Amino acid sequence: MSSMTIDVEAAPSHKRHTRLAQWVEDVAQMCKPDRVHWCDGSHDEYQAMQRLMILSGTAIPLNEQKRPNSILVRSDPADVARVEDRTFICSRHKEDAGPTNNWEDPEKMTRKLRELYAGCMVGRTMYVIPYSLGPIGSEISRLGVEITDSPYVVASMHIMTRVGTSVLQAFGVDGEFVRGLHSVGAPLAPNQADTPWPCNSRDKYICHFPETREVWSYGSGYGGNALLGKKCHALRIASVQARDEGWMAEHMLILKLTNPEGRAKYMTAAFPSACGKTNLAMLIPTIPGWKVETVGDDIAWMKIGADGRLYAINPEYGFFGVAPGTSMKSNPNALLTATKNSIFTNCAMTPDGDVWWESMTSEKPAELVDWLRRPWFPASGRKAAHPNSRFTTPAHQCPVIAREWEDPRGVPIDAILFGGRRAGVLPLITEAFNWQHGTFLGATASSETTAAAVGKVGQLRRDPMAMLPFCGYHMGNYFGHWLNMGKSSSPSKLPKIFYVNWFRQDESGKFLWPGYGENSRVLKWVFDRCDGKVHSVETPIGRLPEPADLDTRGLDLPPDSLAKLLRVDIDGWMAEIASIRQHFAQFGSRLPQGLNDEVADLEKRLKVLKN
Ligand code: GTP
Ligand code: SPV
Ligand code: MN
Repeated sequence: MSSMTIDVEAAPSHKRHTRLAQWVEDVAQMCKPDRVHWCDGSHDEYQAMQRLMILSGTAIPLNEQKRPNSILVRSDPADVARVEDRTFICSRHKEDAGPTNNWEDPEKMTRKLRELYAGCMVGRTMYVIPYSLGPIGSEISRLGVEITDSPYVVASMHIMTRVGTSVLQAFGVDGEFVRGLHSVGAPLAPNQADTPWPCNSRDKYICHFPETREVWSYGSGYGGNALLGKKCHALRIASVQARDEGWMAEHMLILKLTNPEGRAKYMTAAFPSACGKTNLAMLIPTIPGWKVETVGDDIAWMKIGADGRLYAINPEYGFFGVAPGTSMKSNPNALLTATKNSIFTNCAMTPDGDVWWESMTSEKPAELVDWLRRPWFPASGRKAAHPNSRFTTPAHQCPVIAREWEDPRGVPIDAILFGGRRAGVLPLITEAFNWQHGTFLGATASSETTAAAVGKVGQLRRDPMAMLPFCGYHMGNYFGHWLNMGKSSSPSKLPKIFYVNWFRQDESGKFLWPGYGENSRVLKWVFDRCDGKVHSVETPIGRLPEPADLDTRGLDLPPDSLAKLLRVDIDGWMAEIASIRQHFAQFGSRLPQGLNDEVADLEKRLKVLKN
């Protein structure tokens, strides 16, 4: 097929950006779509994508009374989560990808991918989506273009990123942008019927070329594999840009916490996938007079401002949230956000055309169609929604979205929280002694794996800064970048760093801490620590609250639970030391000396206490 036979829609504003126009032309030549459509981000375009998905059987419209302008999408059962073992960092030198990433030589990978992409869009439309990560006009914001053959991706990108005429203007004639190419890898022969969820069951590649700021994704249509603005651009590519340019791209929520006197502080928190970011970002405090508002729920880009403080923006425009566990009890604000204009993927469907997932209601519906399209009853004995089923919903619909969430300057951060799912050892909250110790807490963060990625669930692994699957370069250098950031302003201006663990369990495997809205009690201690209003106890592992200083009024917590939650488990920590040393060993000479010093110091402090 020559370029003459491809129907490229007129795109006057893009044509002025010759590099963009040339790239789109080259990709069209390689992928051979029937049509090329330049996205304008309009409401009509979104509606057209919805209609297309409904007509092709990808989506079902939900009950207009219950869930206006929303659809349910069921994916292929083999395409339900991020594929970490198919995700590659293709830097020129293998060492630059580091021991925690899959690596392939960029030329070799490009050759392989070109073979796969050849003619991969035959029978389909190729969509070109120019998007902005972050508010237009913010100096922290960045532009990207995703090319995809999936209407589901187009509709999702409309929700998750800024797409539209003002974005197009921001491209100008030669604006810098990240190139993202995505294909479901399922060309259609002339009379071949499409499947409801086209994808490639044989080959999946999620490839990043950090040096040329490119992403090539093939074979999957789901989540972070396919919505390239999210993990691929906003974290893996952006982390490399951030290192080069002296800022930070982190897997963090951003929240605004206001105390009863009306004073506000902004905090970010890095927890691994499906470990509570969306929940914390929009929680409803159980302590009177306190208020949480949302700036972002998954990703934070941060830069030191002229005043020396660290400012954060949310590069995203929507939430791609875990559905199971989300209820009017656990996270009402998430449910209220997703009441309309939303996409639900791999959830179950109720007889009246609404969605359902595990723990959404205290009582299970009498009958459902499960995510695999089978009849489901409470006695079926299996989950109705996939554990990684998700809602895609516009952030501005969140009832507690902070009014400054689109402020191009970002919000000044007072505290950074790290955390993860740990049944033992890690206390409810620890405050770092200083930035380097805080970097150590982040670098050694650990968590049990969840359904957000394909693989075993519940496996304990180190997930530094919740960035293990998302850091686009050598993790040892990433730690070094963290330490450098700590030196680029005065300690009093930088955020304090904390480590939290909502998931500590008792002997019978029950969570010791009620979590969710009750986490506000911990946030209050953090807030007051930042103000220097409450003291702390020095322990070998960091500063902990005096049990009496943690506000537990009105909380029905068994008396010994708080002691367990705040206990420094010396033997458990001695075992951690060995595991941390092993974890650090893989980074070789790229591990900053400061972090080696921290392990040695921790061990010394623990030994003093033990003897
Ligand atoms: P990603 O979108 O994958 O990055 O996940 P996330 O970090 O935003 O996690 P999310 O807030 O969606 O929570 C994931 C799961 O953890 C849900 O099933 C929640 O119900 C559960 N969860 C969240 N917060 C808490 C908590 O404080 N305690 C307990 N026990 N569970 C929680
Ligand atoms: C995560 O896994 O951290 C997510 C979901 O936020 S995805 O977009 O699929 O990466
Ligand atoms: Mn995430």
